[in-house]
Amino acid sequence: MVIMTTTSSATFLPVLERIAEEISHTPGRGRPADYIPALAARDPRSFGMAVAEPDGTVYGVGDWREPFSAQSITKVFTLALDLAREGDELWEHVGREPSGNPFNSLVQLEYENGIPRNPFINAGALVVTDRLQTRTGDAAGELLDFLRAESGNPALDFDTEVAASETAHGDRNAALAHFMASYGNIDNDIPVLLDQYFRQCSIAASCADLALATGFLARHGIRADGSRLLSRSQAKQVNAIMLTCGTYDAAGNFAYRVGLPGKSGVGGGIIAVVPGRCTLCVWSPGLDERGNSVAGVAALDRFTTLTGLSIF
Ligand code: DON
Repeated sequence: MVIMTTTSSATFLPVLERIAEEISHTPGRGRPADYIPALAARDPRSFGMAVAEPDGTVYGVGDWREPFSAQSITKVFTLALDLAREGDELWEHVGREPSGNPFNSLVQLEYENGIPRNPFINAGALVVTDRLQTRTGDAAGELLDFLRAESGNPALDFDTEVAASETAHGDRNAALAHFMASYGNIDNDIPVLLDQYFRQCSIAASCADLALATGFLARHGIRADGSRLLSRSQAKQVNAIMLTCGTYDAAGNFAYRVGLPGKSGVGGGIIAVVPGRCTLCVWSPGLDERGNSVAGVAALDRFTTLTGLSIF
């Protein structure tokens, strides 16, 4: 099913339809994340893909209106919100290099003195959320307000079941936070930080919502209402970190296959940016062993191949 929300141009709709058709014949779809039990129940055959144009036109195919757990995709938005507030001081607390390790790895933190490699592995995202929490008093609430405004969807919300499931299985994130606190790189009480982080990850949103919410990165830092969130240079920086770190220890392969800044989440979503042109969000819950959606990466690969739109 294809639904358009506006009557203006839907340039890439025929491409999306072709991709959905191709994906429907793809047998291997990976497995939904099961380390958070609330995510394990999703059907790996679900598939949706949306494109948002810089003027707010959004359209899509398949399950593009179906909410799913945004998870690590939210790390892009907390990074942007914190960077907008504190600027380059953030980089004294978190690096900008690919980690080459799984998203929840502890191993580099000790020999790198509690400074995580980048803002998209869990350790780095915890630092960003901690700093946003210090500045706003409610990092997750700030994020939710931003996503509602950018997507134009006031119904977006936290998924309390997913957040509770994460809390119940949160030993590794707690370990990361405590370890960084021992180096003085966390300001807030750990239970407060973890509550903010788990609620952040639990936000349920659709491909349409997330493609629209990512629009400021295609508009070089400009929000949906025309105000500026990031400088042009900061928008470039966030896009660059998405390209090099957004899909963890598969970022090299993602750049090779897709050639766009992208960010995945274990809910099976991936956002991607064609700077100056459009944003995309694709969702299919089956993951590969690195935590990236199998059909999602395949669909983005086909999109840049069929359109010629990559940054390379
Ligand atoms: O920290 C966690 O374990 C999750 N809430 C987020 C993980 C995630 O989405 C990593 N992505 N691929």
